[in-house]
Amino acid sequence: MLNKIINADCMDVLPNIADKSVDLVLTDIPYGAVTQNGSERAKYDGQLRKIDKSGADVVTFELLDFLKQVERIAAGSIYIFCGIEQVSTVFEYFNKSKDFMVRQCAWKKTNPAPSNGQHMWLSSMENCIFAKRRKTKFNQLCKSAVWDYPTGRSKIHPTEKPLELIKYLVQSSTEAGDTVLDPCVGSGTTAVAAKVLGRNYIAIEINEGYAAAAKNRIEQLSLTLF
Ligand SMILES: C[S@@+](CC[C@H](N)C(=O)[O-])C[C@H]1O[C@@H](n2cnc3c(N)ncnc32)[C@H](O)[C@@H]1O
Repeated sequence: MLNKIINADCMDVLPNIADKSVDLVLTDIPYGAVTQNGSERAKYDGQLRKIDKSGADVVTFELLDFLKQVERIAAGSIYIFCGIEQVSTVFEYFNKSKDFMVRQCAWKKTNPAPSNGQHMWLSSMENCIFAKRRKTKFNQLCKSAVWDYPTGRSKIHPTEKPLELIKYLVQSSTEAGDTVLDPCVGSGTTAVAAKVLGRNYIAIEINEGYAAAAKNRIEQLSLTLF
């Protein structure tokens, strides 16, 4: 399964990956920020519509079951981008373990969309929980847990993360030749970052269309790299 985009439910694949066999888990789980309930949905319509395309934001697994798998498989660090209602669960899960150091981090969008700017503060940050097994590698020194990056222009995936941000995190927590796992890879940003930086990847995506888009991105990259 190394260096492939796997079109499957990660909860079927993760149990087949050995304990402490990947150096880094870096993922961006569905936030579940848009409820599927009609009346609730109407409240948010317009503000959050963009992130509900093709179920990209629908939570498909029990979060604690997912975290248990991630913890078991990770040999080093774990980054989990997650929604505001998931932050405490993810933070607490790792913080209660004596094996991990944990930090709440954030991606600060330096070019936030101006939606509703006349009524309230712009939506300009996303949460990420960082957990690191003690005495494993960290290639930074005294760097902020708030990462300033602009949102990208790519329209491949409605919740796509900026490639430069993901590359920064991969470089911060791995060496060339290491293996990075993203169980919810979407349009393949983590896999692209890993490949560009000479890391191996295990990339899983449940949605056929997004998995195909991720494969296409990797193929295009191969054409430019070689
Ligand atoms: C927040 S998006 C990730 C976007 C990604 N960071 C990117 O840059 O394109 C979450 C992705 O997880 C996928 N997903 C949801 N449940 C999944 C599951 N059980 N197994 C694998 N992928 C899943 C969704 O289809 C969605 O594409």
